[in-house]
Amino acid sequence: MDKKLLINLQRVPKHVAIIMDGNGRWAKSKGMNRIFGHKNALTAVRESVEAASLINVKAITLYAFSTENWKRPKLEVDALMSLLINSLKKELADFIKNGVKVNAIGCTENLPKKAQKVLNDVIFETKNNTKITLTFALSYGSREEIVNAIKNISKKVVNKELSEKEITEKTINNHLYTFNLPNVDLMIRTSGEYRISNFLLWQMAYAELYFTDILWPDFRKEHFYDAIIDYQNRERRFGKTSEQITD
Ligand code: IPE
Ligand code: IPE
Ligand code: MG
Repeated sequence: MDKKLLINLQRVPKHVAIIMDGNGRWAKSKGMNRIFGHKNALTAVRESVEAASLINVKAITLYAFSTENWKRPKLEVDALMSLLINSLKKELADFIKNGVKVNAIGCTENLPKKAQKVLNDVIFETKNNTKITLTFALSYGSREEIVNAIKNISKKVVNKELSEKEITEKTINNHLYTFNLPNVDLMIRTSGEYRISNFLLWQMAYAELYFTDILWPDFRKEHFYDAIIDYQNRERRFGKTSEQITD
């Protein structure tokens, strides 16, 4: 049965964020090295973006490399960077064909020059697409993002471009990497880990959280739709009582 048919198209999340986890364990279970797992992650990325696009999710953000992931063995980090470069090159034509606008968040200046170049090219080539915004979190850490926002806001206060009184939640939002994205409605994490790992802490303040045991390389459209169906069965109260929710 097509799980998509069970989805209420009037109530899809605007922004879905995914912590793509479990590549290493997936490879290990097959007697292979961790890098084999990363190589097999691309299908899951494609399927998720396509699944999201088909039900009109407007933004999908994928945690691809965290600030903490720099601590992994150099061989693995290098392999991840090469995979990033090759995958972006390979996918560009499909991004264009499918109306995918590519975006990046994180300290991307820390990526190898070649990765920065390909990333910037892909962002430029897809900038007018409107079907869905696909954001890659690369060298991303939410705490670092918040520290940067505070620094930039402080500078403005010192320069008298902004007064302390004028600082609101919106000011903070506008200084995050995600300034042009809606708040996260649904966060999915694969591989049976129940944590946030420094991902979009501010943006997920009221997100619905969905955890699955599926390892990322095995994640397919049907799993994405399972998460959406689960999301649609929840009541988002935002502090109100159930009786106050009319939706
Ligand atoms: C997620 O899979 C990919 C990245 C963090 C880059 P992992 O590499 O974390 O896989 P596990 O968690 O070790 O199985
Ligand atoms: C989180 O996965 C980062 C990405 C998916 C890119 P990790 O596998 O690095 O997370 P922890 O450290 O186990 O929480
Ligand atoms: Mg992991």
